[in-house]
Amino acid sequence: MIENKNLKKSDRDNFIHPMTDLEKFERGELPQKIMHSGYGSYIKDIENNEYLDAFAGLYCVNIGYGRTEVADAISKQAHKLSYYHSYLGHSTEASIELSEMVLDRSPKNMSKIFFGLTGSDANELNVKLVWYYNNIIGKTKKKKIISRMRGYHGAGILSGSLTGLKNYHVNFDLPIDRVLHTEQAFYYHRTNLDQTEEQYSKYCADQLEKLILSQEPDSIAAFIAEPIMGNGGIVPPPNKYWEEISVILKRYDIMLIADEVVTGFGRLGSMFGSDHYNIVPDFITIAKGLTSAYAPLSGSIISNKVWGVIKKGTDQYASLNHGSTYSGHPISCAAGVANLKLLDKLNLINNASETGKYLNERLLGALSSHEKIGDVRGAGMLAAVEIVKEKKERKFYSKPGLIAADIIKAMKNYGVLARAMPEGDIIGFAPPLCASKKEIDKIVDVTKKAIIEVIS
Ligand SMILES: Cc1ncc(COP(=O)(O)O)c(C=O)c1O
Repeated sequence: MIENKNLKKSDRDNFIHPMTDLEKFERGELPQKIMHSGYGSYIKDIENNEYLDAFAGLYCVNIGYGRTEVADAISKQAHKLSYYHSYLGHSTEASIELSEMVLDRSPKNMSKIFFGLTGSDANELNVKLVWYYNNIIGKTKKKKIISRMRGYHGAGILSGSLTGLKNYHVNFDLPIDRVLHTEQAFYYHRTNLDQTEEQYSKYCADQLEKLILSQEPDSIAAFIAEPIMGNGGIVPPPNKYWEEISVILKRYDIMLIADEVVTGFGRLGSMFGSDHYNIVPDFITIAKGLTSAYAPLSGSIISNKVWGVIKKGTDQYASLNHGSTYSGHPISCAAGVANLKLLDKLNLINNASETGKYLNERLLGALSSHEKIGDVRGAGMLAAVEIVKEKKERKFYSKPGLIAADIIKAMKNYGVLARAMPEGDIIGFAPPLCASKKEIDKIVDVTKKAIIEVIS
């Protein structure tokens, strides 16, 4: 084991970190945080500093850190059967048990699950299945996918193309040309400040229809979106948004992929975001909350309608030639089973609803009157605070992100980890679903203190 004092150097010398300025990091000009252990909503670094994790890692440690039930399930599975593949009809007890548990909890029109490892690969499979489906039914030109600006769906070649944040495209030759982006559904950032939420939702649906009509409408296969936008700034949909969008999708026979990587398994206080907003998707993407990140696992859940077609396709043409060595990995699935059992046992979805409401109310009460806080928004155990240069005229900073980064830094010094969301001055909150009201109080108090310290 490397000694603590050498860990930082070794980290800089060997390890490429995601979303990091590599040159500055290697030169030691960026802060390094090496985490060591965690319990409940708290995490400690190797220097024994303790932090309240107000973003649950990357909004994934939903049941909190240090749950022995999940650690024991992983250990038991590793001792009994560390691995077997799921190709050609092979399976393990854990992957079968988890499939059934996921389907029991999914919206009624869902039929089956395919397990992957990351949200990105599950989204990619969902798009591949859209293409496969349309080939089987003879609509071979119906292939384009519409996503939203500021949407987040991963960082692969296809999933990164679906992502609507510019930074994920620059110098990677993305997006690929089968992917189009439409209006972002961000009411606070609307161009026409006179619009009501309902008018803005209608505007978003009109923009979507315009984009469809600007193409061969029959070339558009699917629309992908998060029920509530996550990395794009934690943005709940404006009133009537999903009703308006659903009308357009139906009109042009476009399938819906609900990306529930963040919202799946309770983050909004409902099992799925689709239940929460009354959405009826053809595909659901899950990851994070499926195992609370105790082990990597994702899933593509498909509807009865999709299943009916693709199973016939494999009968007619060839078997489903998609998969990876780790599809349905038994250790990850064992973690998933234990995680979902704990979610039920501890009534954490209910806690996400109640304590999430408390988080949102407290943030609003503490911060909405501040002269530089333009917007406080959220749903369930998700919230965001947006800082603006000038509130009345809603002027944003010309170099977005700098103020938010300073606030996050100040919060860290007071022992709370939140997240500066990309492309804006937005502080994001997504505590573990087990967070207590006392912990929420600490998050809000520290946020306020840090904002006052940085801004005034
Ligand atoms: C909505 C959404 N979809 C997909 C992903 C990608 O998941 P992963 O990072 O596991 O590839 C994320 C990650 O944050 C996400 O928030």
